Amino acid sequence: MTENSQLTLNVYCKHINDALKALTADRPYLRENIVEAMEYSLMAGGKRLRPVLMMEFCRMCGGNAADIVDLACSIELIHTFSLIHDDLPCMDDDDFRRGKPSCHKQFGEATALLAGDALNTLAFEVIAEAAMSDKISPQAAVMLVSVLSKAVGVNGMIGGQIIDLAAEGRQISLDELDLLQQNKTGALIEAACVMGVVIAGKYDMIPAAAEYAGYLGRAFQIVDDILDVTGSFEELGKPIGSDAEQDKSTYVTALGIEGAQQEADRLTESALNVLRQFEDHDFLFELTKDLLHRRS
Ligand code: IPE
Ligand code: IPE
Ligand code: MG
Ligand code: MG
Ligand code: MG
Repeated sequence: MTENSQLTLNVYCKHINDALKALTADRPYLRENIVEAMEYSLMAGGKRLRPVLMMEFCRMCGGNAADIVDLACSIELIHTFSLIHDDLPCMDDDDFRRGKPSCHKQFGEATALLAGDALNTLAFEVIAEAAMSDKISPQAAVMLVSVLSKAVGVNGMIGGQIIDLAAEGRQISLDELDLLQQNKTGALIEAACVMGVVIAGKYDMIPAAAEYAGYLGRAFQIVDDILDVTGSFEELGKPIGSDAEQDKSTYVTALGIEGAQQEADRLTESALNVLRQFEDHDFLFELTKDLLHRRS
């Protein structure tokens, strides 16, 4: 990534981190350590890919990225909720996340469960708040809630997680794996991109944003699966070998590391081709390429 693009990414992340912190501050009506648990997981790090995608798609479609930071946080709130629940003993049973003990290791299972739930509802509160303070129209807010709730629900991330758990202990077909991934990871990435376009009001670009996200989401999960084998705890901030330990069906078990990497290359190329339809796409072009070779 060029120095300029790295600077852009840093600025996006700074805005996002500040806004996330503010969202869990000054909430006296929230109880005791549940806010601490929410903040702990939110602020532990993370690449902030999904809010960056939302802001960038909004910008490429003529909107002002800096004006929508809170809305962009809605997707990171959901993503962090999904990670807290993903790590629970009844799910992937992972003890570390974002370089720190997982939420349930730090605060106990009940608090972690409820912190995840509270992050989920906070995301929709943020969208409603944007409409109540006239930052977006009520119509846009309804569209955002529609996109996001579908992406989280049984036909989105939650649906994908249940397929993922049901696939433990057996090798599923590549078609099933694609469906699993499309729900588990793809749905939130697609929502991030589409929501950015919706906020900018350039509805005719929604199909292209969704198509790009489809390719990127699959490539992203493939690389996540590869890193679970080839990465290190220091780089990833989460345990490696977790998939093998849980006997998961992954792109590595289906295609091997080399085959999986080739598939991620191919998908990234397709994502880049779709991106060319958007004006001023240089930053996202570079970010998309970098994600293919990420080590964290
Ligand atoms: C990890 O997501 C879980 C997947 C959907 C593959 P990220 O790799 O975006 O995690 P953070 O937000 O950077 O911690
Ligand atoms: C998780 O996929 C996707 C979510 C919906 C959170 P993984 O289980 O592969 O994510 P990591 O590897 O634990 O981050
Ligand atoms: Mg999982
Ligand atoms: Mg996991
Ligand atoms: Mg993984």
